[in-house]
Amino acid sequence: MPLIYQLASIGLLLSLISHVAQSGSPDSQQLSSQCQACSAIAAAFQRGLERTARDNFGGGNTNWEETRLGTYALSETRLVDITDRLCKDKDNEMNGVTSSECHAMLEKIEEDIEKFWFGAFKANPTSASLRDSVCVNGTAACCAYGRWGPECAPCPDCSGGRGDCNGNGTRTGTGACDCHPGYSGAQCSDCSAKYYRANGESNGECKACSPACRSACTGPLATQCDQCADGYETVQQADGAACVDIDECQTRSPCSGPRSFCENLPGSYRCGDCDRACSACSGPGQAGCTACSPGFEPATTGSGCQDVNECSP
Ligand SMILES: *[C@@H]1O[C@H](CO)[C@@H](O)[C@H](O)[C@H]1NC(C)=O
Ligand SMILES: *[C@@H]1O[C@H](CO)[C@@H](O)[C@H](O)[C@H]1NC(C)=O
Repeated sequence: MPLIYQLASIGLLLSLISHVAQSGSPDSQQLSSQCQACSAIAAAFQRGLERTARDNFGGGNTNWEETRLGTYALSETRLVDITDRLCKDKDNEMNGVTSSECHAMLEKIEEDIEKFWFGAFKANPTSASLRDSVCVNGTAACCAYGRWGPECAPCPDCSGGRGDCNGNGTRTGTGACDCHPGYSGAQCSDCSAKYYRANGESNGECKACSPACRSACTGPLATQCDQCADGYETVQQADGAACVDIDECQTRSPCSGPRSFCENLPGSYRCGDCDRACSACSGPGQAGCTACSPGFEPATTGSGCQDVNECSP
């Protein structure tokens, strides 16, 4: 091969490599928003199918029309009725997809939608899925539900809805189970700390322990804690030992300073500043005063202090 051709083919090769390097790792943010836009359109399409399910050709709907144009259900007329409103239907919950993102995606997949309509949908109107045909296979922006990531690998079983597969249905994500509150483990089959297994069944629901428990319990009550949480203490009660809130304000006056008050909270306490109407107080606001600041007097109604009205005689 003459040198000039060798150089030219090396140049072509290099430009191919750099092109592949640039487009080989598409921005995952961009992929996920494309999938989101396509999925939103597919969901709107589904609603459009439901909206037009009982429609027919406007006007006559005579046998002649049905025969000449085919039934409305599979007609181009219905397709247009649906696609016209995909991005502008006010009822459509576009799921964070803006109108311009929707239109940009629709332009890209319009032909695919038409192919879907006269192909997969016509062949099987009840089970054909626009999302599968167009968003998954067509633009390659999505994976089928139950798959995730660049290779559309299968999602793990997240214990039947106790967690969500990260990246489910998209070309992004980690493929790990994001467990719902109360569940943990790779497949969300364990109970988290501070949750217990209800019904005693090995795969029963996980429910929250009493806030009085430190980390584990056998049931929902404060008598069912393994150990008491900070700010609670074990107290023998008629029905057994229970974890009971410690009233820190009583046991150890933790709020110092003449113009502060202590408020007991479940498991803790809070120090607050007295209202300016108070020179001493036991709670918030003017009503919490136990002694009044200069310029204030004991309230005539209720408790606390009120402003002295120096103007009235
Ligand atoms: C998507 O593409 C795969 C592989 O070509 C094919 O087997 C599958 O039937 C397609 N699915 C849809 C819904 O078009
Ligand atoms: C994936 O998403 C689909 C559709 O929202 C849902 O039905 C399915 O349970 C999800 N799978 C996992 C493992 O999260």
